[in-house]
Amino acid sequence: MANLKLTKVKKAYGSVEVLHGIDLDIKAGEFVVFVGPSGCGKSTLLRVIAGLEDITGGTLEIGGKVVNSLTPKQRGIAMVFQSYALYPHMTVYENMAFGLTLEKGTGKDEIDKRVREAARILQIEDYLDRLPKALSGGQRQRVAIGRAITRDPAVFLFDEPLSNLDAALRVQTRIEIARLHEKMAGTTMIYVTHDQVEAMTLADRIVVLNKGHVEQVGSPMELYNRPDNLFVAKFLGSPSMNILPATIEAAGETTRVLPEGGSSVVLPVATPDSATGSPAHLGIRPEDLSVTEAADAPFRGEVTLTESLGEVTLIYVDIGRTDEPFVAKLPGEVSIKRGTKIALSAAPESMRLFDERGDAIRAAARKAA
Ligand SMILES: Nc1ncnc2c1ncn2[C@@H]1O[C@H](COP(=O)(O)OP(=O)(O)O)[C@@H](O)[C@H]1O
Ligand SMILES: [Mg+2]
Repeated sequence: MANLKLTKVKKAYGSVEVLHGIDLDIKAGEFVVFVGPSGCGKSTLLRVIAGLEDITGGTLEIGGKVVNSLTPKQRGIAMVFQSYALYPHMTVYENMAFGLTLEKGTGKDEIDKRVREAARILQIEDYLDRLPKALSGGQRQRVAIGRAITRDPAVFLFDEPLSNLDAALRVQTRIEIARLHEKMAGTTMIYVTHDQVEAMTLADRIVVLNKGHVEQVGSPMELYNRPDNLFVAKFLGSPSMNILPATIEAAGETTRVLPEGGSSVVLPVATPDSATGSPAHLGIRPEDLSVTEAADAPFRGEVTLTESLGEVTLIYVDIGRTDEPFVAKLPGEVSIKRGTKIALSAAPESMRLFDERGDAIRAAARKAA
């Protein structure tokens, strides 16, 4: 059991700062996922936590103790990487035991107990005598995870462990990692991915990173339903939230908004009177749109492309904007041909309003102003 506390953690390579002061509290036993686009600093942050990179500024505490200058081993951390890096000439058993045999003071019986326990948790007991080349990619990754489990770490770090697996194995191994967290109750896990589906399905809490800083921290559904800003709104959900440049036509207890490519909508969001006339952004999730016959439907246009995915159909509509497509996610049985003119609407409470800078405008904004 160990909690982690990061205070203004910075990392620079030479004069280039890549982490700009990360503040984060991770509870003991929590499963936290760092998610963000490639290059945003996820691996760097994980490596700083692990002690594989020295910290440029700020403090890192594990279990209430500042560990800035401790070695990876002293921190009680085990890390699983994207490439599983097993020793090809050693059996699964030997691969899992190897790290422990290097340590002084861990006896043969204790090593055997730990390897068998890890194998049991990961259901690879039948493969202990095999060489890695006789295993599938998913099984190899399980051995790599097993090797980390034998260390009995207080904190488990994963850096995109599924990205070398094919789609089906990725889903299966993802479910196994979720189970692993249940079985290892009390072990804090930090998991890095650029895949928002992995983040949504695995995390107790998600940390959305962008360009070396934290955009938002929260449970998957908090981030999905109440994104703090456009970056988080666009990053989670597939296809991405539709974002339309808009103007606030009338502020007040409710807010009338005119989106580009649509007609006015009234949102149940209070805005200060001074907001009238301001530029804003209107966000509508594809799954919140439905086809309507209503004369006052806010969005109209011609269908330019349809994608049938089985359980859902994606409809791309030209609503008169040239840049990004406007996408609706409709039930799979819906069949609308290219070229059809349709009207779409969404429940006012499902639409999200952001200010010109991209920060969410919520009901509280009026009181604060
Ligand atoms: N050893 C290094 N030297 C210099 N720059 C680095 C080094 N490692 C990472 N970076 C830079 O730090 C940034 C964050 O990288 P990284 O943490 O690997 O991102 P992610 O894991 O989110 O894709 C990138 O701009 C990358 O080029
Ligand atoms: Mg990375």
